[in-house]
Amino acid sequence: MCPQDQRILRGRAVRWHDATVVANLEGVKNRPLPRARPALTLRTRPGERSPVSESQAVKDLQTAEANEGVATETSHPVSKGTGEGSAAVKVAPLKLGPLELTTPVLQAPIAGFTDLVFRRLVRELGGCGLMYTEMVSAGGWIKGTISPERLFGVVDEPKPLGVQLWDREPEMVEEAARRLVDLGISIVDLNFGCPKKRIMGKQGAGATLLRDPATIARMVESTVRGAGEVPVTAKIRLGPHPDQITACDVARAAESAGAVAITVHGRTAKDGYGIPVNHERIREVVESVSIPVIANGDVGCAESAVQTLQNTGAAGVMVARRCLSAPWVFREITAALRGEPVPEPPQLAEQREQLLRHHGQLVELHGDPFGTVLMRKFAARYLGGVRGARAFRSEITVAKDAADFRRIVDTLFPLEADEEPTVSGDDLEEDCCTE
Ligand SMILES: Cc1cc2nc3c(=O)[nH]c(=O)nc-3n(C[C@H](O)[C@H](O)[C@H](O)COP(=O)(O)O)c2cc1C
Repeated sequence: MCPQDQRILRGRAVRWHDATVVANLEGVKNRPLPRARPALTLRTRPGERSPVSESQAVKDLQTAEANEGVATETSHPVSKGTGEGSAAVKVAPLKLGPLELTTPVLQAPIAGFTDLVFRRLVRELGGCGLMYTEMVSAGGWIKGTISPERLFGVVDEPKPLGVQLWDREPEMVEEAARRLVDLGISIVDLNFGCPKKRIMGKQGAGATLLRDPATIARMVESTVRGAGEVPVTAKIRLGPHPDQITACDVARAAESAGAVAITVHGRTAKDGYGIPVNHERIREVVESVSIPVIANGDVGCAESAVQTLQNTGAAGVMVARRCLSAPWVFREITAALRGEPVPEPPQLAEQREQLLRHHGQLVELHGDPFGTVLMRKFAARYLGGVRGARAFRSEITVAKDAADFRRIVDTLFPLEADEEPTVSGDDLEEDCCTE
């Protein structure tokens, strides 16, 4: 591995996209958040279109071409901070091979988003049992055609931490898994769910492999060989197409090849995000294997998490899109599962402080203006549904540098919601292939 890659993996000074990065992780302090006060009711207006132009900010970065779509109703009213726990399911501790999670609530791999700073924020807010990096091309990393920027800082990051790999060549994932073990990673996950053409068609990877359980078994087997004692998991969709539901066969193949758990996103690759997640199909997978199954798709709050666990019988839930606009969702779900009062979401003043801290950490790691440019797509997801947020978003997504960012926050970030806020944070389409 070249010295530059070594520095990236440790989160040290590197040159990244022509920006000099001075990454002194120890120097970045995690300040505790002040306590939230007023209650917010999280809701999505059916059919409401997000006012956020994600694509502009993300195109600038050429990292995650997140396409704006129609917001879906995924959140449910929850009794918050009432002193009464809302757990309706009993969830056993989630064991992924030798690794026992403190809570069966996981943060999904989200390309373009789940970077070091975002993971740090999630960890700080609490309630998340395991976080994943963005997916990494095993072949690209091994052949040296990409530098492992998506693994930025993982060596020194607190554990547990999972890294997700994608490829279609068993030798590539085996070698990449070996390297991940050397980096001290806690879990190696394999992506068999990416629906994007560039991954499925050209590369024959991601959800394409759902047609071929035998190849999935070979991929898992090789990864297990490379990973040694480190557990290996797989993340799948229900199948490549609604006419080809293969999840149970795939899950059995992965289990017999040594996977310790399977995450199932309850839609097919062809479905995209256009239909509600299918809990019955996830339940079929749960019933067809003896390893834990983690349910994924449309989990946006404590109530939907409980509902998902009840409907599917899964051993845990994984959250993707909602955590980008509400990274505190993990502590809400975990509290509900423990039968504890569900904490209030942070009030707007706290969210503003969190936004500034997030931006500050990105600038500290990546320099300015690159850190500001990276922050645009995150900032655009703040304030879902809050009146006054539209003007804030339209300006923050084109913030030029740190001073401009600060000016926009100071002038346009609303500190009081003048109507009951709603959240419409689930409008992203999956794009897991840009690196
Ligand atoms: C912008 C974006 C990027 C994603 N990147 C990945 C990825 O790198 N690996 C992966 O397995 N899934 C990826 N996904 C899929 C999510 O992990 C998750 O399976 C899906 O969004 C459904 O969960 P949700 O309803 O909680 O969002 C991505 C999704 C989005 C919206």
